[in-house]
Amino acid sequence: MKTAVMGSGGWGTALALDLLENGHDVTLWSYQEEESKVLRETGENPMLKGVPLPETLALTSDLSCVKGCKVVVLATPSFAVRSTARSLKAVLDPGTVVVSVSKGIEKDTSLTLTDAIGAELGPDYPVVALCGPSHAEEVGRRIPTAVVSASKDQKAAEMVQDLFMNERFRVYTSPDIVGVELGAALKNIIALCAGCCDGMGFGDNTKAALMTRGLTEIARLGVAMGGRRETFAGLTGVGDLIVTCTSMHSRNRRCGILIGQGVPVQEAVKQIGAVVEGYYATATGKALAEKMGVEMPITEAAYAVLYEGKDPRKVLTELMTRAKKHEIEDSWL
Ligand SMILES: NC(=O)c1ccc[n+]([C@@H]2O[C@H](COP(=O)([O-])OP(=O)(O)OC[C@H]3O[C@@H](n4cnc5c(N)ncnc54)[C@H](O)[C@@H]3O)[C@@H](O)[C@H]2O)c1
Repeated sequence: MKTAVMGSGGWGTALALDLLENGHDVTLWSYQEEESKVLRETGENPMLKGVPLPETLALTSDLSCVKGCKVVVLATPSFAVRSTARSLKAVLDPGTVVVSVSKGIEKDTSLTLTDAIGAELGPDYPVVALCGPSHAEEVGRRIPTAVVSASKDQKAAEMVQDLFMNERFRVYTSPDIVGVELGAALKNIIALCAGCCDGMGFGDNTKAALMTRGLTEIARLGVAMGGRRETFAGLTGVGDLIVTCTSMHSRNRRCGILIGQGVPVQEAVKQIGAVVEGYYATATGKALAEKMGVEMPITEAAYAVLYEGKDPRKVLTELMTRAKKHEIEDSWL
């Protein structure tokens, strides 16, 4: 099948290689010609060192590569998803399935990324979110991975499942696109916080508490937005949270470690050298929580550190000394 992957960062490249492995005709599109040139000349992506790019992978920076594609994958940072969808509209064939693999919430609208794509493209293009615990560095090396293809359109979700699935890349389907996308976007906030706790020298207890209470507040917002509670116990909820809070592949966690060690926030984001989605998700997640009237104390604490310059140690003490609570929200009701 003719496909195109828009965005030649680590994730777009790893997914392009998976599609190629499955025998599809794949073009990897770069935002800048310079990026495409580096891939062509070095035969690898600097984000995926040691993973060779086969000659059968077409490389371009020309948007018209999507013409005739049955499926187009958007793998840009979340802030560029809408603008990329907008520029594609003139060249996409009607009926093309558009797959969002980015993780985030749109800044000014608080929309999920597939809703932002839908708003640009209109109803003629089925939209799917493909998310889950999946580091590009591992998918690129064909390490067994499982993700979720979520869509309101069952046929489109199953088509994407068939397209990507192989013995090293297992794909489940789900109708709960809201739950899947919110879990994927919001866990990056918790990963930054987990890294920050590591950077401050705290231990496994701290991280376990953060991850569990983080998942509680993610699910609280996700359910308020119409997501299904069980989705947050799945691959794109707890699964993605585990991978991103515990791995050194996670740039969100690595950025958090730097901040916990005392590196100024902007400098830490810069040092990572690739998109740190948790930085943006903290602001969008907080705005969405306020809009929905949902309590998200860890997200608020992350915001205070990232955007208001508060000391993470002080913020952690404030979290620990909040008013007493039941663990389960409807206890003894
Ligand atoms: N890296 C991973 O392991 C991984 C896994 C799952 C999901 N994701 C998600 O995929 C998305 C991309 O991540 P990545 O790791 O490939 O990032 P990256 O920083 O490696 O690459 C991002 C790509 O987007 C391009 N880009 C930058 N600005 C752009 C613009 N204005 N318009 C279009 N393209 C632009 C860059 O040139 C680059 O090729 C993120 O939302 C991330 O959360 C990443």
